[in-house]
Amino acid sequence: MKNIKVYINAADKRGHINKEIYGHFAEHLGRCIYDGIYVGENSDIPNVRGIRSDIAEAFRKIKMPVLRWPGGCFADEYHWKDGIGEKSSRKKMINTNWGHVTEDNSFGTHEYFDLCEQIGCEPYLAGNVGSGSVAELAEWIEYITFDDVSPMADLRRKNGREKAWRLKYLGIGNENWGCGGNMRPEYYADEYRRYQSFCKNFSGNELYKIACGPNADDYNWTDVIMKNIGKWHTKGISLHYYTVPTGDWSKKGSARSFDSEEYYSTISKTLYIDELITRHSHIMDRYDYEKEVALIVDEWGCWYDVEEGTNPGFLYQQNTMRDAVVAACNLNIFNRHADRVKMANLAQAVNVLQSLVLTEGEKMVLTPTYHVFDMYKEHQESDAVYCFVDNAEAGDKTKIPMISCSASVKDGKLLVTIANCSLDEEAEVSFALNGFNASAVSGNILTGDVHDLNDFDDPHKVMIKNFVATVSEDSVKAVIPACAVVSLWIE
Ligand code: AHR
Repeated sequence: MKNIKVYINAADKRGHINKEIYGHFAEHLGRCIYDGIYVGENSDIPNVRGIRSDIAEAFRKIKMPVLRWPGGCFADEYHWKDGIGEKSSRKKMINTNWGHVTEDNSFGTHEYFDLCEQIGCEPYLAGNVGSGSVAELAEWIEYITFDDVSPMADLRRKNGREKAWRLKYLGIGNENWGCGGNMRPEYYADEYRRYQSFCKNFSGNELYKIACGPNADDYNWTDVIMKNIGKWHTKGISLHYYTVPTGDWSKKGSARSFDSEEYYSTISKTLYIDELITRHSHIMDRYDYEKEVALIVDEWGCWYDVEEGTNPGFLYQQNTMRDAVVAACNLNIFNRHADRVKMANLAQAVNVLQSLVLTEGEKMVLTPTYHVFDMYKEHQESDAVYCFVDNAEAGDKTKIPMISCSASVKDGKLLVTIANCSLDEEAEVSFALNGFNASAVSGNILTGDVHDLNDFDDPHKVMIKNFVATVSEDSVKAVIPACAVVSLWIE
């Protein structure tokens, strides 16, 4: 057992934790939308206008604040007009990025906004810059948000929606350094300026425009974009970073079968996002020290080799306690960077990569990652506060910090979330509290063997349980088992 001290100063506020930091992403990829979120209204699986009721309920429970759509790489080949009107006459297309399957466009703009309304979350559209046109994107905004008489608003009405929707978040392209057009940053910056000029605010709707930011450690991309786009044209730039256990994209490692070395390598690679955010933020500070432009981590999570026997283009992977620890570490990092990071979207919500939910026919399981979002949800719309961990090493000679932690205050309560990244050692953690008089503590824990997972024949193996900690006026003490995620409510 290691003794670890965590110092928290509840009076020292470090940034507002936007609810969107707990955001998600759903792409037309594999079984995320079709055979996942959207089963169609004639399905035997309970649904509301084709949207699975159990999934919508699960998303509401974790207070899903925002859902990015339709991609990903798919966004830059998506033509929104193919996905409106009578379903039987919607144009079919090839999903060239993800398995060359036929996309029948039965889930389009109306179905997506219906999904967001059922969940109660903000929509976040990724516009097509790579293979679309300025006019096409401008018309999409008009179709969605214009309330008066116009060609696009009239078309929306003809398709059954009288009232305009509200749309805040708009991404101008996706990964335009890669699948979104293989552009150089200078070229993309000009394209961004042109596209965004024609995305107008209609009928009181105000767009929050997000430029394509860097891939992982491409610091030059951030510099060029910040220099050439500037804060007058954008509210945010995106960052994409995936955790690949082996670091080798041709052999990423298995989701369920891994040894302790690969586990610690996964944790080390996931913690690297802290350095990425710090260094990109420093570059952004050169142009925007007031932090008016946000870093939007709109794709993050673990990316493993697909499950044996599944379509390699569908990116289906299981999800273990390792993913729970990864999720906890990332969310703690985002909380700690709440002054610059204003949104983050886990990739992806259902049946793809580090999912919240997996489905098989009418069955649905909540993954360990889902439970972490459940335990962390009250960080949404709170204030991050000073939190310093006097850390130890997780495991022998790993150089990986054992404890990941963040803290926030809301409505006079302190929420502290912790991951013990060690595979075999408990931590006796003593939280020294400043600026807060504690009188009660309640807690939850998610723990188990690192390979534990929820599957269709055993859906409740990894579950949230009650956790007991002790409290005195200026400190809280807790013994946190190995491979565990804990949340503590201190009052
Ligand atoms: O999330 C899967 C893919 O990863 C997305 O489509 C793309 O943006 C990224 O490369």
